[in-house]
Amino acid sequence: MPENESLSPRTKGSNPLRIALFGFGTVGSSAARILLESQPEGLKLTHVANRGVARKKADWVPSDVVWTEEFDAVLDSPDVDVVVELAGGLEPAGTWVRKALATGKSVVTANKKLIAYHGIELEKLAAAHGGHLLYGAAVAGGIPVIPGIEHGLAGDRFDRVEGILNGTCNFILSKMEQGAEYAPVLAEAQARGYAEANPSEDVDGFDARAKLSILMRLALKAEVNPEAIETRPITQVAAIDFGYAKDLNCTIRQIARAERVDGHLAATVGPMLVPLQSPLAWSKGTENMVMTTGHYGGEVVFSGHGAGGHPTAVAVVSDLVNLAHGSKRIEVASAPATITTELEVPHYIRFLVNDRPGIVARIATLLATEKINLNAILQKPNFPLDRLPFVITVEPCRTSALRRALAEIGKMECLLELPLDMQILEK
Ligand SMILES: NC(=O)c1ccc[n+]([C@@H]2O[C@H](COP(=O)([O-])OP(=O)(O)OC[C@H]3O[C@@H](n4cnc5c(N)ncnc54)[C@H](OP(=O)(O)O)[C@@H]3O)[C@@H](O)[C@H]2O)c1
Repeated sequence: MPENESLSPRTKGSNPLRIALFGFGTVGSSAARILLESQPEGLKLTHVANRGVARKKADWVPSDVVWTEEFDAVLDSPDVDVVVELAGGLEPAGTWVRKALATGKSVVTANKKLIAYHGIELEKLAAAHGGHLLYGAAVAGGIPVIPGIEHGLAGDRFDRVEGILNGTCNFILSKMEQGAEYAPVLAEAQARGYAEANPSEDVDGFDARAKLSILMRLALKAEVNPEAIETRPITQVAAIDFGYAKDLNCTIRQIARAERVDGHLAATVGPMLVPLQSPLAWSKGTENMVMTTGHYGGEVVFSGHGAGGHPTAVAVVSDLVNLAHGSKRIEVASAPATITTELEVPHYIRFLVNDRPGIVARIATLLATEKINLNAILQKPNFPLDRLPFVITVEPCRTSALRRALAEIGKMECLLELPLDMQILEK
């Protein structure tokens, strides 16, 4: 939005903003609850739209709120000022949001996928038609990371943004920290409704990379396709890795991290070793955490509930309150950017082998061929020799060199599975 553009007169006058909720699910119903219970000044819920709307009707919603499945009629209606899109996914949410913005309405959404893939186009559309697009709930649910970066830290310039952006992975990994294995913890996460029947979006890192791409644009001013961000799944992490991580004064978390290093932009998502003294290690269960590193202000940590109906709806309603009070979003002067996968960082490599003499020597030789220095070798006692896990940590080395070495190491017959390689965060 151009910085000097003022909000529509309705938002500043005595008439409340008339709000249509699209999607009455977990977040939509919570947003309705908050709007109706707290009655924030300047906001009035007028419509709830959902498919099969009859089964959605709730007796705590006043009778003057219109329940409908006619989305287009609401979008065409002059009696709606703001569409709150809480259905999720790229379509039909994208079509609704485009249409709302094209008719001069404002849109509030929690839809990270839509914003990650189409946010720039949609912001331009909003600006062209005098509306506003706010998506404070799209990253880290109820934690005000986006307004924090856009407003609270507008005076700084960021070198790095990193964090725990997926509550499902954090639930799984912080449970595994207590000794459980991946499969039963995933099953528990599914039983509690934290993980989908197909958990790929979460455990493979796709959800976190969509959120990271949004943070990269806002904090690092870098426009990237989420798919250009390398992701690694958490699925190969085992309980034994937490034991070895502890020996290294670390734990393991799914980290989404982007930074500018030596003029290059690096970004990656995956399980990483996090030092126990890092705030990132303190986040447990479904919590989210984001750390920004400002050039002037240093580190700032945001933490709290990254998901859930009420916390996420608080972020949605906060966007609405800001709209009603005429707060402006700050224009982000971002530019397309290319991501490098070449980093120089230390790594943790866990092997599972059928033991025999000379394995470590051979691995050390293959690493040395790529000029990679061993740092430590860790082997816990009491494992069967035909299924022996052990760990090698290496000093900071280039990603490409480690990949070449691991490709050669991967050919060794004694390996029972491909080595698990995780970056070790240095602070
Ligand atoms: N839940 C969270 O903790 C959380 C956190 C951060 C962000 N978000 C984001 O918030 C948004 C909503 O998530 P949610 O958890 O509230 O989802 P949800 O519980 O599945 O609710 C989505 C609602 O939208 C309706 N809907 C979906 N597709 C529709 C379609 N094509 N036509 C009409 N209605 C449709 C659904 O109707 P049916 O009942 O018929 O399926 C449902 O009522 C998503 O973008 C999500 O990524 C959620």
